[in-house]
Amino acid sequence: MAKTLNVVELECSACGKKYDGSIEQHVCSCGKPLLARYDLRRAAATLTLESLKSRPRTLWRYAEVLPNDRPVSLGEGMTALVHAERLGASIRCGQRGLRSLYIKDEGLNPTGSFKARGMTTAVSRAKQLGAKALAAPTAGNAGGALAAYAAAAGLPAVIVMPADTPSANVMECRAFGAKVIKLNGLISDCGKYVAEHKDREGWYDVSTLKEPYRIEGKKTMGYELWEQFGGKLPDVILYPTGGGVGLIGMCKAFDEMQEMGWIGATRPRMVAVQAEGCAPIVRAWEAHQSSAQFFPNAATVASGLRVPGPLGDLMILSMLRQTKGTALTVTDEEMLHAGRELASLEGIFAAPEGAATVIAARKLAASGWIKPEETVVLFNTGSGYKYAEAWQRALQSADGGAQ
Ligand SMILES: Cc1ncc(COP(=O)(O)O)c(C=O)c1O
Ligand SMILES: [Zn+2]
Repeated sequence: MAKTLNVVELECSACGKKYDGSIEQHVCSCGKPLLARYDLRRAAATLTLESLKSRPRTLWRYAEVLPNDRPVSLGEGMTALVHAERLGASIRCGQRGLRSLYIKDEGLNPTGSFKARGMTTAVSRAKQLGAKALAAPTAGNAGGALAAYAAAAGLPAVIVMPADTPSANVMECRAFGAKVIKLNGLISDCGKYVAEHKDREGWYDVSTLKEPYRIEGKKTMGYELWEQFGGKLPDVILYPTGGGVGLIGMCKAFDEMQEMGWIGATRPRMVAVQAEGCAPIVRAWEAHQSSAQFFPNAATVASGLRVPGPLGDLMILSMLRQTKGTALTVTDEEMLHAGRELASLEGIFAAPEGAATVIAARKLAASGWIKPEETVVLFNTGSGYKYAEAWQRALQSADGGAQ
């Protein structure tokens, strides 16, 4: 007898329609993403701060609120939460600096980004459900992570990416044995390619929010914050937002924690940080809209933020509203400058996406939106090592072309 799946059912995030989680499912008939639902009373009986002390230091420690397939794991999750004192002191709220500034360093995950979290759960579930080949469009890092987890699962992978994706992402996919298809276009064009070919080719579609389980892995960032702060959550979370899965996932985790009686109704204020050159969520937020428009001519050095039409727009915008959060943009030049600051002050070599949160925190502290006594977490979603071209250009111009 197969053991009972932790996931009780799948539920549409927009219309509430229910689906059977024990078979392959992608999106709702209304086109919107499906979310996994658990028996949280049962989960809360064994998932406690105390019980967590003796569990493996991967995200699979939160087993009760994850699909309980045999994990295809490379040691993802439980990344460092670094108290960034020097950087905090440099972020001014009037006369004072930020004393409780933390960086959650997701660059420490396998394949150097938080995308490993989503792929460990999605690939584990896909394998269990009998997938024969996995495919996804990617802005870069998700492709590398999918290729790695597919290799670990013994499954072939097809990665479709824009032709100008950072070279590290192309190389890692090839090294992991995936088939790489490069298109002249954006991730939205790559998504169309996967959608058009998947049935004929027999691909299991692992696109962002087009299967329900990547979000399950990503939500563990929320569980980890709670555990690493000793059973508390921070006041403000700044997150570089492309497809928005990290942000949606953490908010889902907070709802689950509340249902399990771990936290009350108060939430960290969620901040979506986007690039000036691709900011569909910020534009919708500023216009007080509940859905986002496709952002034309998207361009930014932060390849992970080059997502002009995020499928989870309704959820992202509603979560920003519900948590009394906000959304703002950062220019490429600001990101690359902040990345050097972060590296030299804290010893963390960040992806431009992660560096963007430093500038966003600085702007929000200067305007009084962030208060000096608040606990603030910046997500560095990826490692700077994966952005050789961008950092080489930025460092060259900083050194006046010296190297
Ligand atoms: C380094 C990095 N940060 C942030 C993002 C955006 O993530 P999300 O889709 O969860 O908004 C990506 C996505 O590719 C990424 O690679
Ligand atoms: Zn629906």
